[in-house]
Amino acid sequence: MSNASLAKAPQETTVLVTGGAGFIGSHTVVELLERGYNVVVLDDFSNSSPKALDRVREICSLDATDPQLSLIEGSILDRDTVEEAFTRFNIDTIIHFAGFKAVGESVEKPLEYYWNNIAGTLVLANVARAHGCKNIVFSSSATVYGETGKVPFEETDKRESPTNPYGQTKAMLEQILTDLYVSDDEWNVVLLRYFNPIGAHPSGLIGEDPQGIPNNLLPYVAQVAIGTLDEVGVFGDDYPTQDGTGVRDYIHVVDLARGHVAALEWMAAHPSGVEIFNLGTGRGSSVLDVIHSFEKACGHAVPYKIKPRRAGDIAECFASCDKARDELGWVAEYDLDRMCEDSWRWQSMNPHGYDD
Ligand code: UFG
Repeated sequence: MSNASLAKAPQETTVLVTGGAGFIGSHTVVELLERGYNVVVLDDFSNSSPKALDRVREICSLDATDPQLSLIEGSILDRDTVEEAFTRFNIDTIIHFAGFKAVGESVEKPLEYYWNNIAGTLVLANVARAHGCKNIVFSSSATVYGETGKVPFEETDKRESPTNPYGQTKAMLEQILTDLYVSDDEWNVVLLRYFNPIGAHPSGLIGEDPQGIPNNLLPYVAQVAIGTLDEVGVFGDDYPTQDGTGVRDYIHVVDLARGHVAALEWMAAHPSGVEIFNLGTGRGSSVLDVIHSFEKACGHAVPYKIKPRRAGDIAECFASCDKARDELGWVAEYDLDRMCEDSWRWQSMNPHGYDD
């Protein structure tokens, strides 16, 4: 069976997006559709809503039957479901988002995390290979850099062992996909290491919709701003940073989504290999910077209280973005204020997320 190629027009290219209804997935699907790609979403809605895809269609002015966007509902762990995707559609490449992603929960449920993230990816890659599709963009994370203490993180830095099972699954899957290429140089693997994606589509129609109390800073701040939660706990103010609070490289989810399109275009010109790119802005913002920027966006104070450090957190994390700029021709455009404005628009238009 011939290897599926990316060297053709987007209109003739079909992208399988696993986890395409999720936060980063849904924004990436919008960017792909707007550039003319055909998209097949494979999602089991375990941590996402089918409504996200209705909203994606609304943003892209597609009706429910438009063949540019198709849905297969099911898990990547279910071989029959994955087979169905490759049998019904002529898939050229995969963008693989599907996976469990809560750091704290992964410590409580290591078996579930390793099983879903690792075994699911093995099923996916196995079925894809059987259908001659050896192109994959994998959703990795800055977490694989570990606690080196050195910033900015560069793609050539040695990886440290992540401190939790979630991070381990990302590091292991990077290794597994790299080994696949080593065994068979028809594979084309791009590992995208995300920093901290926040913000929402400027339409306010899609955004982050965490279940229960949010673990991550931005959705927590947004829920305090809308009045669902009382105050933000700031985890530590004694780090060696400008104001003592933790510093992260927040990136607008639309910029991040566009990074995936840039990766597909790059793969068309580099038909095999394994390559790593950081997707961040290269700028670090503290927890207090984020809170103050969100206050500007929502127009009122966001109450917060300094709490002890959270176990496993590092002081500073931000990307070197030179490689993505030089090779992919991609740079993040939006600043922190814009991220907070878009996040607030989503939150205020959808106070309960996708729930009515
Ligand atoms: N923070 C608070 N209060 C909160 C939540 C977070 O002060 O309620 C602080 C954290 O201590 C940290 C910063 O805000 O300094 C960002 O924390 P997040 O939980 O939003 O994000 P992390 O940087 O801890 O983790 C994120 C992703 C992980 C990924 C990691 C990679 O959630 O999936 O980046 O760097 F592994």
